Amino acid sequence: VILTQDDLKKIAAYKAVEYVESGMVLGLGTGSTAKHAVDRIGELLRQGKLKDIVGIPTSTKTHEQALSLGIPLSDLDSHPVVDLAIDGADEVDPYLNLVKGRGGSLLREKMVEGACKKFVVIVDESKLVNYIGGSGLAMPVEVIQFCWKFTASRLQKLFEESGCVAKLRTLGEKGDEPYVTDNGNFIIDLYFKQSIGDLKAASDSILQIAGVVEHGMFIDMATTVIVAGELGLTVKDK
Ligand code: A5P
Repeated sequence: VILTQDDLKKIAAYKAVEYVESGMVLGLGTGSTAKHAVDRIGELLRQGKLKDIVGIPTSTKTHEQALSLGIPLSDLDSHPVVDLAIDGADEVDPYLNLVKGRGGSLLREKMVEGACKKFVVIVDESKLVNYIGGSGLAMPVEVIQFCWKFTASRLQKLFEESGCVAKLRTLGEKGDEPYVTDNGNFIIDLYFKQSIGDLKAASDSILQIAGVVEHGMFIDMATTVIVAGELGLTVKDK
């Protein structure tokens, strides 16, 4: 049997849902991998195998999906302590640091996943990297719309030594319409030619720029990463 990438995502997602117990407050992730986990939680609720779950969605998209599945929903204002969050990632480094937000939902994800006791990340093996930025794909930064070009150039300058290129995320092929997040902000995608070194220092300097709301590096947040590959499942615990 040849497994597709989507099969691998589903296998990782179903494994993560084994961590869910009745009565839990659950952070519901966003993206094509997390979608399988949310579907599975909905299914187990419907079958009566899970009870009294409260879901905290990390995006309007996941909110809609969970609503359609009949998962009871709340937010961090009412449920400031989250038992467990399950979400995908764009990159996972050997220390379980992550890049998230290719789907655009990094801010709500970071708020919810930063409030949880256990954060289980689900990926297929294509997401594993030697260092953050190592996939060659974007590291997203959410910025306010006001003078975004100014903010983008400050971000690019910050990582000049890593050959950083900063690009506004746009919609569609033509690329003239900016992508707008659930929070009404823009996304600046940073591409690095080489490692940016100390992630904590990089994070601090990004967050010091006025105009930046949040970035997609999730440093020291994941407690478990479940990786689905051709040869099976690997569970990495912090
Ligand atoms: C959403 O904005 C992202 O942070 C996703 O969680 C991440 O991009 C993983 O998405 P996929 O599971 O679709 O790869």
